[in-house]
Amino acid sequence: MKKTTFILLYLLRQLLMLVVLLSCRRNILTDAAGGKWDLLLSNIGISAMHMQLLNNDKVVIFDRTDFGRSNISFPINGICRDDPNDAALKHDCTAHSVEYDVSANSIRPLMILTDTWCSSGAAMPDGTLIQTGGDKDGDHVVRIYKPCSDNSCDWKEIKNGLAQRRWYATNHILPDGRQIIIGGRREFNYEFYPKTPIADKPYNLPFLVQTNDRKIENNLYPFVFLNVDGNLFIFANNRAILFDYIKRVVVKTYPTMPGGDPRNYPSTGSAVLLPLKKLQGGTIGAEVLVCGGAPKGAYDSAKHRSNFVTALSTCGRIQITDLNPQWTMETMPLARVMGDMVLLPNAKVLIINGASIGTAGWDLGRNPVLSPVIYQPGKPSGSRFEVQNPSSTPRLYHSTAVLLRDGRVLVGGSNPHFNYSFTGVLFPTDLTLEAFSPSYLESTSSRLRPKIGSPTSQSIIGYGRQLAIRFTIPPGRLSKNLVTVTMVAPSFTTHSFSMNQRLLVLSGGNITPIGLSKYQILVTTPASRNLAPPGYYLLFVVHQDVPSEGIWVQIK
Ligand SMILES: *[C@@H]1O[C@H](CO)[C@@H](O)[C@H](O)[C@H]1NC(C)=O
Ligand SMILES: *[C@@H]1O[C@H](CO)[C@@H](O)[C@H](O)[C@H]1NC(C)=O
Repeated sequence: MKKTTFILLYLLRQLLMLVVLLSCRRNILTDAAGGKWDLLLSNIGISAMHMQLLNNDKVVIFDRTDFGRSNISFPINGICRDDPNDAALKHDCTAHSVEYDVSANSIRPLMILTDTWCSSGAAMPDGTLIQTGGDKDGDHVVRIYKPCSDNSCDWKEIKNGLAQRRWYATNHILPDGRQIIIGGRREFNYEFYPKTPIADKPYNLPFLVQTNDRKIENNLYPFVFLNVDGNLFIFANNRAILFDYIKRVVVKTYPTMPGGDPRNYPSTGSAVLLPLKKLQGGTIGAEVLVCGGAPKGAYDSAKHRSNFVTALSTCGRIQITDLNPQWTMETMPLARVMGDMVLLPNAKVLIINGASIGTAGWDLGRNPVLSPVIYQPGKPSGSRFEVQNPSSTPRLYHSTAVLLRDGRVLVGGSNPHFNYSFTGVLFPTDLTLEAFSPSYLESTSSRLRPKIGSPTSQSIIGYGRQLAIRFTIPPGRLSKNLVTVTMVAPSFTTHSFSMNQRLLVLSGGNITPIGLSKYQILVTTPASRNLAPPGYYLLFVVHQDVPSEGIWVQIK
């Protein structure tokens, strides 16, 4: 063989190997993970400890008020907060709450007067956010935020709106439109908002005493869901009850989750009520999924011995409506404490944020988990989890994630320190806002994406009625049997739990063509207030797992 031929063959072989290598690499990048991260704002001035999406596509965000200056001032000089009880700063001219305008990608400072640290809340049937409690001078306060379109709205506070102090409590909206406020530090009881003559005091909840681990607690921010029978599923520590809050009786006691490890603050895992849909036979079953947390002893170990133990990698799933309910355990690809669980419009669950060792609490989390995971409830066990592309921003203690109307997930916060600390610490206080876009927002999905034509956003829908939804889909793309309609309640999110989060898959689904690439789908709206408490929901048409942009509907 001539030398030149040999060299040519050699070069050809190298080239082929390079092509093979490159194509493998492309497969790794595109097939192993999905989703995309975008930095929305690099400094919103506060760390997003609490978030709630309102029905005008603005997100109310707030932190604590009692640590001194935040990084955002009021635009008009002279607007300040005077709080004689504030230990750090009695005359504070910075904001501790902001309103984020999703479409403008901008923020506006808001004025909170009393301390909102580790508080709770839920949106009322008219879309008003009712937030309750906090610490110190804020622990009995009810705060009202009524959405507005002209940037004139701000917090209003009711000084002694609560019967008890509520710090690390959980709220849920009830079928009658009131809220229940459950537990909180050293509060083994619940109360309601608004108060009525027959419900103006706190009622004992012994389950919160029974699940309180000495000194460590492990039952704060209990996971509360309204069951389809109108009772409340309450999970605290490592077990749950079904509770009739009207008769004040425990209707059912669920078995302890296998393994027995705690899942609530400071062992902070997360939980969701899985998408509600009609089962064969016409009944609606309800399932709860609890994921991650920190093993027993993890808090003491991190705090007193600087030993950060591996977080829990297990999830427990239970059909709460079963006669004989049992937990089924599954293993996540990544161990996670302080993760957030977000219901996506296509009825999948996003598990995002958190750490892989340590616990919740000041400076007790390490090794941030940067990759979200998507859980697909309908797939066979063993093939439900899918790891997503990582963020570059650690989201530890006091981070949050909420679904937006366009299908993105807004992610913010992370401040494991008592004050705002930007230098000389392992995990600086984070003031950014990011968005995680699941793969259904990639341009390759646009050929499948439905667009809702009617009803228009802000429409009122009733219970158990036929609802005709008109939508378009790019020409020739429709797979008729792969269209669903979902309704998602916007949650109040803090400390890795989204209160009031709920997704309904509407039944029906007859599709008729009404023009070129235009269709109408007929569905039935939720039959009762137990299934869907009154209020605003995001409604999506989902085609082959790709959701439309949502529209707001109000059910009443
Ligand atoms: C936080 O800052 C305040 C002043 O704003 C200071 O008095 C306090 O010692 C700081 N606390 C910690 C734990 O760093
Ligand atoms: C926040 O404010 C502090 C004090 O005013 C300043 O030193 C720091 O650079 C600011 N940090 C950010 C991220 O804006």
